[in-house]
Amino acid sequence: MATSILQCISCGKSYPLEEVRFSCSCGNLLDVSHDLAALKKRYKLSRRYFDTKRREVGARPFSGVWLFKEIVLPAAPENSLVSKQEGNTRLHRNKKLSAWTGVSHLYLKHEGENPTGSFKDRGMTVAVTQAKRLHQKGVMCASTGNTSASLAAYASEADITGIVLIPKGNVAVGKISQALAYGAKTLVVDGDFDDCMRMIFEAQEKLRAYPLNSINPFRIEGQKTIVWETLQQLEWKVPDWFVFPGGNLGNTSAFGKAFHEAYELGLIDRMPRFAVIQAKGASPFYEAFKRGFKKLVPQKAETVATAIKIGNPANYTKAIRSLQWTEGIVDTVTDEEILDAKAAVDSSGIGAEPASCASVAGVKKLVAAGTISEKETVVGLLTGNILKDPQIVVDYHMKHRGRGANRPYEIKATIEGVRRFL
Ligand code: F0G
Repeated sequence: MATSILQCISCGKSYPLEEVRFSCSCGNLLDVSHDLAALKKRYKLSRRYFDTKRREVGARPFSGVWLFKEIVLPAAPENSLVSKQEGNTRLHRNKKLSAWTGVSHLYLKHEGENPTGSFKDRGMTVAVTQAKRLHQKGVMCASTGNTSASLAAYASEADITGIVLIPKGNVAVGKISQALAYGAKTLVVDGDFDDCMRMIFEAQEKLRAYPLNSINPFRIEGQKTIVWETLQQLEWKVPDWFVFPGGNLGNTSAFGKAFHEAYELGLIDRMPRFAVIQAKGASPFYEAFKRGFKKLVPQKAETVATAIKIGNPANYTKAIRSLQWTEGIVDTVTDEEILDAKAAVDSSGIGAEPASCASVAGVKKLVAAGTISEKETVVGLLTGNILKDPQIVVDYHMKHRGRGANRPYEIKATIEGVRRFL
């Protein structure tokens, strides 16, 4: 009996892991479903098992995703892994940001420290490994930028063709540079991300393209390791809150599954609460949350945080499950709040791209509202690197008149110019 299968999250129908399929015959999303009891027995899985493994790896280069291979993709042979030593990102603490948000036990997990500068690499290593195992010649995605950058790099690593669909005028310059530079075939679509995503669903059906968006359940498996790595860094102490931005809701789906599986395996003894933060102009999940998840009403999304400019999230049903597991909440922050949080994160010396900073803006808002107490332990997720979107930084500091602005000065090419400034 296989220890891992593809399984519908709604009707429970299962398919072999080797089948190229991304939705159930009933139309719902698929999970990679593991027989946790069997895996636990086979590998004697425990906190100590993973801690020993990490210690034994020592100074050797290794992947923070494949450290957890036994509960990600146990069937994949070691020599089949398409990896760039992703993961192993830092968990930052910073006094200024603790003061700014009002939480002294604030930890920021920086996924911008991955090989292509975002958390996407964690899912991509697993999904591209699986694509290779299934003998796919090409892979495809819709993207607000980071997925395309990551796909491009991993497709190159795997020596398969990468095709990316990106919305015209809505992808930050660092990200489009990466897609082009790593060699992906780049299709600039005259539409928004939701149009690109719709095209991916169609391409998968009509062109038999292999999608690497987070509807691919192997992406979710890789992204689970953000949670387990954080837990290891916290010596398996479960934080009170896990706060992160929500766009297509892949992370929301992955993190719920990760905590749920950790609980089932006995690695943790309680669940944290999730707070998913959306940009106010791109908040379909928040609107659905307010109405008890009766219905998802797609929106025409608008926000400066282009990474999460998404109006019709593909992982909606999986994300609901994650909130149920974690007594989770959804909130929104305005573009101004995102930019102010970004100025705070950047000037702390850590730095992150705008969507990432929705997490930090969200923490501040939830503390001010009394939802998060100052004494609680909060993990906030920074999803992407500061250099992904340099234009927004320059615009903010050159044009913005707000508190966080750090304007440059023009001076004559003489030391007198410097002296006058001082
Ligand atoms: N933060 C960043 C930096 C992102 O790039 C994304 C998604 C998110 C947050 C939202 O994560 O979709 O799991 O809820 N970016 C995708 C892309 C959509 O195409 O790069 P999610």
